[in-house]
Amino acid sequence: MSEHQRLYPVDASLAASAWVDADRYRELYRQSVEDPDTFWREQAKRLDWDRFPDTIKNTSFASRNVDIRWFEDGELNVAYNCLDRHLERRGDQPAIIWEGDDPDQHKIITYRELHQRVSQLANALSALGIGKGDTVTLYMPMVPEAAMAMLACARIGAVHSVVFGGFSPDALAGRIVDSRSRVVITADESVRGGKQVPLKDNVDAALTREGTDVVETVLVVKRTSGEIEWQDGRDRWFDEVVDAASSECPAVAMNAEDPLFILYTSGSTGTPKGLKHTSGGYLLYAALTHETVFDYHPGDVYWCAADVGWITGHSYIVYGPLANGATTLMFEGVPTYPDHGRIGKIVDKHNVAILYTSPTAIRALMAHGEHIMDSSQRDSLKVLGTVGEPINPEAWEWFYRVVGNSRCPIMDTWWQTETGGHMITPLPGATDLKPGCATQPFFGVQPAVVDNDGHRLEGATDGNLVILDSWPGQARSIWNNHERFVQTYFSTYEGVYFTGDGCRRDEQGDYWITGRIDDVLNVSGHRMGTAEIESSLVAHESVAEAAVVGYPHDIKGQGIYVYVTLNDDVEPTDELKQALKQWVRKDIGPIATPDFIQWAPGMPKTRSGKIMRRILRKIAANETDGLGDTSTLADPSVVEDLIENRHIKS
Ligand code: PRX
Repeated sequence: MSEHQRLYPVDASLAASAWVDADRYRELYRQSVEDPDTFWREQAKRLDWDRFPDTIKNTSFASRNVDIRWFEDGELNVAYNCLDRHLERRGDQPAIIWEGDDPDQHKIITYRELHQRVSQLANALSALGIGKGDTVTLYMPMVPEAAMAMLACARIGAVHSVVFGGFSPDALAGRIVDSRSRVVITADESVRGGKQVPLKDNVDAALTREGTDVVETVLVVKRTSGEIEWQDGRDRWFDEVVDAASSECPAVAMNAEDPLFILYTSGSTGTPKGLKHTSGGYLLYAALTHETVFDYHPGDVYWCAADVGWITGHSYIVYGPLANGATTLMFEGVPTYPDHGRIGKIVDKHNVAILYTSPTAIRALMAHGEHIMDSSQRDSLKVLGTVGEPINPEAWEWFYRVVGNSRCPIMDTWWQTETGGHMITPLPGATDLKPGCATQPFFGVQPAVVDNDGHRLEGATDGNLVILDSWPGQARSIWNNHERFVQTYFSTYEGVYFTGDGCRRDEQGDYWITGRIDDVLNVSGHRMGTAEIESSLVAHESVAEAAVVGYPHDIKGQGIYVYVTLNDDVEPTDELKQALKQWVRKDIGPIATPDFIQWAPGMPKTRSGKIMRRILRKIAANETDGLGDTSTLADPSVVEDLIENRHIKS
């Protein structure tokens, strides 16, 4: 049997101790789809409500009326659920273990301390005029203040919009303007891998852009004490403002459907969209998935190695774990600093039981050889998880054997910014594992596979992944643009949610996610729209036209391959290639930096002028034998030229 078909059956002792075993999974899954009201009414009891909901599910996926509501007459406060309700039993338990970039720095924050700081910050925000429904932009390093800021917003009903600290001033400005934030919370600098990133300088630059004069206050966390500019009246030190505020701050009861946060993500077209997540359904879904998918038990130290700037950080560093009263580890640095054994050393240092990371991080470590794990034992580990991109079986096996000492099941969790929480995933005590396979739907999730015309495909098959009905963690809309929400997710196939992913369902009914089937790239688990990178490139004075595609990359999963047609009078030089890479890096952020640029005197276009990306993808991947149907090309010689001058010859 090849490695790829190996099966890792559920460990019997884990099945006995886990929250959910195989029988329980089947029983609960059936109930969750046949009688969602009963299932979710029961689950809603996990949360503390100011008003327990009578109405559970009220959702429509019909494209003329996409309307998604869960627990719509319920009232609760998300911060209360993540903090106050734990104080009596767990006040002195660590809520956050913060591990600094520098291995000599760590901090432990108990639930009581977190509650106090969040209450003070919430009062400080109120004093700055922020209240229910107002938005606050967070552009933060991985420091506890990031979680505090999210929870402080939630406490007073404000809506946070976290922007990943690796995005450029322009990208930040666009998000501030779209969300109309009057307050921005940032830090002087962030620190990753021993290097400083000038967050406050980036905010200063962003706030010179058109439309950002909505911002009245910038709160600045002092992280490095690095040199920064200061604008009196606008800029305030985070600690000074928070220290001065009272720690008595009642949590505001919010409707379950009031927005909790906006999170921007890339799609196939246009600018990034601000997905709107609401309070009750999102929190319940994050909490339930966190507990069951990682089989979290009280006392476990749990570590999700994502950044709070992404949905994974929202649901599985902050909201899910804290709603469950867990101890969540927050890591400021990178897995390769100061050496490649860092992940294992952190696991040993803090007795981590659950480790949730990305295939890219695993592949990056794998490239350095097994000995990098010799500096740690990792005996505390019980469950492993991956997210963000398909994991190749080799990386899965390495994670299992080398990091997990062949003892810990791996939860390959498929989900999206739009889904709020895990959608297709194994459960540690219930699911037999296949390396590279996301396996089975979570409770309440009804996946289906359709062909390009939307016809349902049954049995073992390949096709487009859709979800037939709503689940509580689902995004409700796009901020200020419900029409775009409907258009993007509910118009490709009528009456179902379209994920944008392709998948294969095998004979056992297990799902294998094969990756995006639209013009979205997934580079190191970071999602990017090809259109965003293209519009950045064509804004350069030398560029006439640009087309961006992904190509297979050993470590990053996908790399960024760019075809550029220059203006007539411009010389195609290597210096210009470097300049264009820097241009995109500066315009969007380092994660969008092209790996390869190929000069393209012409693009392969249809007679109606549409670029045939399918062909560009094949050339980038060096699959030039199978270009498929090229009969609709306006000028076939263009393709020959591109193949001839392909950047990476093998
Ligand atoms: O293509 C899928 C891939 O990541 C996309 C979602 O990206 P984003 O919204 O940034 O959220 C990432 C974190 C949840 C999906 O459409 N993806 C995510 N998890 C997996 C995955 N692909 C394969 N296997 C996974 N486990």
